[in-house]
Amino acid sequence: RRVCLIDTDPGTDDAVALWLALASPEIDLRLVTVAGGNVGLGHTLRNARAIVGLSGRDVPVVAGAEGPLLGAFRSETQVHGADGLAGVALPEGPPPAPGIAADAIRALLRAEARVTLIGIGPATNLALALATEPALAAKVEEIVLMTGAWAEGNITPSAEFNAWSDPESLAMLLGSGRPVTLATLELTGQALVTPDRIAALRAAGGRRCLDAAARIMGGVPPSRRFGHRGHPLHDPCAIAWLLAPQLFTTREVHVHVECAGVARGRTVVDRWDRSGQAPNARLLETLDADGFFALLTERLAALP
Ligand code: BDR
Ligand code: CA
Repeated sequence: RRVCLIDTDPGTDDAVALWLALASPEIDLRLVTVAGGNVGLGHTLRNARAIVGLSGRDVPVVAGAEGPLLGAFRSETQVHGADGLAGVALPEGPPPAPGIAADAIRALLRAEARVTLIGIGPATNLALALATEPALAAKVEEIVLMTGAWAEGNITPSAEFNAWSDPESLAMLLGSGRPVTLATLELTGQALVTPDRIAALRAAGGRRCLDAAARIMGGVPPSRRFGHRGHPLHDPCAIAWLLAPQLFTTREVHVHVECAGVARGRTVVDRWDRSGQAPNARLLETLDADGFFALLTERLAALP
């Protein structure tokens, strides 16, 4: 059982990722930190509290960065809806825990021997925590991120949304010296939500978290402009890696984050070792999608 924290910006797929983690005994989830991202911090914080509250679990939810270290904030309401949860209203959750995200992350790292950092939004909160007390990096077991792309982006032709949202922070995490695992768009594009998969989820249902997850997943439009027949369930892929690594194939790679110009936020992934630079990340390359959705359904069915 790993001690973990999740840094998030819910976000439709963030909601499902949080429930998957909350349902899974392999993950000892101690802290949820929140940033602005898919929608503004006011919404992401409210959503994170509601998602944790619906699970009946008592995990502190702490507010963090409203926007990136540098550059402009931009939300992604076309995918996630104006409220961030595709219009699915959840009951108000418990109040936020006091303090700010970077402090809460550092406090958890100080208190524990080892903590796995799971980042499924812009990387600002995680980077701020490590930048303000670099010695705490030694306590980081692994950093697992949904971010980046080795080919095209989804927010610009070059960049994936989380990487584009705060590339300087992502570069800092990749340079932390701790093991980093990346679920990029090419991986998450294999985890497509289709009507059949939502129906299978509902068939296991009758419970409030699973029912809310099915409604949220059903509210996201298929991403046809990227040639997909469904929409990618990005963030739960990062959680699934910690639960069932046998569903994935991986490759050790060097990743450079471009921070300037038209390619800002691009993750330059050297899959074929053309640069000769030492790997700084483990790339998740392929996913057994049917196994992934079976795991998701089984786990969500165990929540209230
Ligand atoms: C990432 O950006 C957000 O829209 C999703 O929640 C995911 O974390 C995908 O690019
Ligand atoms: Ca997210």
